Amino acid sequence: MAQYQSVKGTRDIFPEEAAQWRVVERVVRTLAATYGFGEIRLPHFEYTELFQRSIGSTTDIVGKEMFSFLPDPNGRSITLRPEMTASVMRAALQHNLFSLAPVQKLFYIGELFRKERPQAGRQRQFTQFGAELLGASSPAAVAEVISLMMQVFASLGLTGLKLRINTLGDSEDRQRYREALQTWFAPFHDCLDDASKERLEKNPLRILDSKNPAMQELMAGAPRLYDYLKASSLEDFEKVLFYLEERNITYDIDHRLVRGLDYYCHTAFEVTTTALGAQDAIGGGGRYDALARELGSSVEIPASGFAVGMERLLITMEKQGLLAATPHDAPLVYVVVQQQDLADHGMQLAWRLRNAGIATEIDLAGRSMKAQMREANRMRASYALFLGAAEYATGNYALKNLATSEQTTLTLGAVMQFLREVATKRGSDI
Ligand code: HAM
Repeated sequence: MAQYQSVKGTRDIFPEEAAQWRVVERVVRTLAATYGFGEIRLPHFEYTELFQRSIGSTTDIVGKEMFSFLPDPNGRSITLRPEMTASVMRAALQHNLFSLAPVQKLFYIGELFRKERPQAGRQRQFTQFGAELLGASSPAAVAEVISLMMQVFASLGLTGLKLRINTLGDSEDRQRYREALQTWFAPFHDCLDDASKERLEKNPLRILDSKNPAMQELMAGAPRLYDYLKASSLEDFEKVLFYLEERNITYDIDHRLVRGLDYYCHTAFEVTTTALGAQDAIGGGGRYDALARELGSSVEIPASGFAVGMERLLITMEKQGLLAATPHDAPLVYVVVQQQDLADHGMQLAWRLRNAGIATEIDLAGRSMKAQMREANRMRASYALFLGAAEYATGNYALKNLATSEQTTLTLGAVMQFLREVATKRGSDI
């Protein structure tokens, strides 16, 4: 039993799994570039008010799930970021990016922190990749971010994902709807659970998000936001759906989808998978035109974006058998030293190979030749390069292909050239 344990809700990722992460990250980076999004890297903590003002103080994230602390007794409270959208907008406003170009397209891959009860697919430290399109308020911008997200899924080979989509209208639509909800629920007040009572009072829309089956049953008869939308809001939503259809992106309209963050307006969406059990959301996003003003901007900066949970994505890929073909970090060549007095020469040889960009392994523990061969096979090295007295004297080395057992004798220059070519053909995966 280990003396030290990692904190509950966190995970350690070892090299083989890290290689799988890199496959996903590479697809994200390539497609983000294809769609014209540049990478943004942000601090892991921000002033607490940033999240209170953006995500909303009555949400679960702000109310219960933030890791907040005081850096010093008189300092301002700081919070480990529970999501990225607010930080992206904060950074864009702070650095006045909009004076350079009115539309900013940014993507990220980063760690987030939420004090949720850990369970499969739900962690206290997790990772998201996502994209934010700032400065363009249109159904086209929403369709753009949804398309990028869905193309990442498709490129990774994922199937059976469900895109649920809804419109939350503009702030006037929602105000009328909030009042309608409060009026409709008033006679049922005593039937509501405590959480729903609180939501009805503070944030009525979130009442629709209840997971309690009794509440869901009650909700079935409640008014729908859709029926409170003005014509322009409906038109906006129809246009988003039109773009999705044009791109063969299938979706389900879900009038109950409100999402757990308050900054959304108009389109909101979520992608779910059956592979995850209770934590079925793999990604989500929407439009958030009012966020910039909430953060102090004097002008409105309309925006939309999405984020996908990396861990949940990888669990889904594993369940769908999509991780098997992932390349691992095997060395290309293992230098096998046949006698111990050549160990220093072996080290020098390995250094020269590595210096030429060839992934090389060598024994550092003075093990027998047999043990070195066993290790080379365990590491799944492609080649073994033998160093014995004859090789040292003549400068000609025996290179063995460990898959076919074919062996050739070459000068060191020829070995290096050959291995370089193999490495180039395979492509580097660093
Ligand atoms: P979110 O729905 O809170 O949205 O999170 C997006 C995704 O992050 C979820 O669908 C899920 O896959 C993953 N996730 C969330 N919490 C956890 C957790 N505790 N453990 C593991 N995975 C988790 C946002 O964060 C918004 N910022 C999305 C967005 C971007 N909206 C506009 N732009």
